[in-house]
Amino acid sequence: MAGPRIGVVGATGAVGTVTLQLLAERGYETRAFASARSAGSRIPFGDDEILVEEATPEAIAAGDVDLFLFSVGTGASRELVPIASAAGAICVDKSSAYRLVDGYPLVVPEVNAARALESLERDRIVANPNCCTIPLTCVLQPLHEAATLRRVHVATYQSVSGAGAQRMEQLRAEPSGEHNLAMDWTWEGPDSDEEAKLRAETRKILELPDLPISATCVRVPVLVGHSEAIWVELEESLSAAEATEILEEAPSVRVLRLPEFPTPRDAAGGDEVLVGRIREDEAAPNGLALFLSCDNLRKGAALNAIQIAEVLLAGVAAA
Ligand SMILES: NC(=O)c1ccc[n+]([C@@H]2O[C@H](COP(=O)([O-])OP(=O)(O)OC[C@H]3O[C@@H](n4cnc5c(N)ncnc54)[C@H](OP(=O)(O)O)[C@@H]3O)[C@@H](O)[C@H]2O)c1
Repeated sequence: MAGPRIGVVGATGAVGTVTLQLLAERGYETRAFASARSAGSRIPFGDDEILVEEATPEAIAAGDVDLFLFSVGTGASRELVPIASAAGAICVDKSSAYRLVDGYPLVVPEVNAARALESLERDRIVANPNCCTIPLTCVLQPLHEAATLRRVHVATYQSVSGAGAQRMEQLRAEPSGEHNLAMDWTWEGPDSDEEAKLRAETRKILELPDLPISATCVRVPVLVGHSEAIWVELEESLSAAEATEILEEAPSVRVLRLPEFPTPRDAAGGDEVLVGRIREDEAAPNGLALFLSCDNLRKGAALNAIQIAEVLLAGVAAA
C-alpha cells in the first residue's frame, strides 16, 4: 500500500526546512508549499531537491494530500487550515491559531497523545504547542505524576531561530554583541504574549487549569536551542536524586549529571530535551530547581509535529 502523501506548508521557513529534513530521513512522499515569494524555487529534500508550490486555497483544497504540516504565521493558518480540513486532510498546525481554542487538541505525544486521536472524530485539526511549552511539559508531567505540582516558575533563554529564518540570517550577519535582541513579542498586560502562551498552553496540556505558573521569557544571541530555568514546588517531597531517577525514565528526556549540564549547543541538532542541574530548592517547600535545553526547531516544533502526525496516521490505519 502507498504511504501517506504529506504536504509541508511554510516549507522554506526555519521550521519548514527542518520538517523537510526529518520527512526525507523518514522516507515520506512529500510536497513543499510556501507563499508566492518562493513558489517555483527548488529547495533541498534529502539528497535531492523539491519544487516549492504556492499555497493557494485551490492547491490546498485539491484533495491530493493526506496530511498537512503547517508552519506559517497565525493569519495564514487561520485561512488555509480550514480549507485543508474541509478537503479531508489531517492538519497539524504549528502556529498559535488553534492552540488555546476549546475543542482543539494541543499535543505533546509523550504527555497526551490520546488527545490527538480525538480530532479524528471531528475536523482532524491538531495544534502543536509553543517551542518552550513542549520541553517544559515533557519535564513537568513525570514530576507531576510522582509528587503533584503545586506551582511552577520558569525563566526562558530563547534563541533567535524561534523568531524565524530572517532573524537567523540577521544574527549570522551581525556580531552577536550588536544583534538587536529587542523583544519581538507583544504585551498582554504586564506579561508578554510569549509568557501568556507558555502559561496557558502548559495548563491545557497538563490538564491543570489552575496551576500557578510564573514565566519570564527573553531572547538571547544564540542561533538554535532554547533553554529554561525551572523551579517547581510539589505537594509531596521529592529529593533531587528521586527526581533525577524519574526524569531518567521519562520519554524524550536525557538527564545530564554534573560536571555535564544542558547547553543549547549540545541540544541543537538532537531530538531530546536535555535536563540537568537538578537540585533541591531551599526557597520553597518541596521545591526543586532544574535547567533544560532543547532544539526549538526539532522537538520544539518540526519533530513534535511529525510525532503528532504519526500518532494520527497510526490512528487512521487502526480504524
Ligand atoms: N521557529 C520556531 O522555533 C517555532 C517553534 C514553534 C512554532 N513556530 C511557529 O511556526 C510558524 C513558522 O515559524 P518559522 O520560524 O518557520 O517562520 P519563518 O522562518 O518566517 O517561515 C515562515 C514560512 O511561512 C511561509 N509563508 C508566509 N506567509 C505565507 C502564506 N500566506 N502562505 C503560505 N506560506 C506562507 C513562508 O514562505 P516564504 O518563504 O514564501 O515567505 C515561510 O516558508 C509560526 O507560526 C511560528 O510561530 C515556530
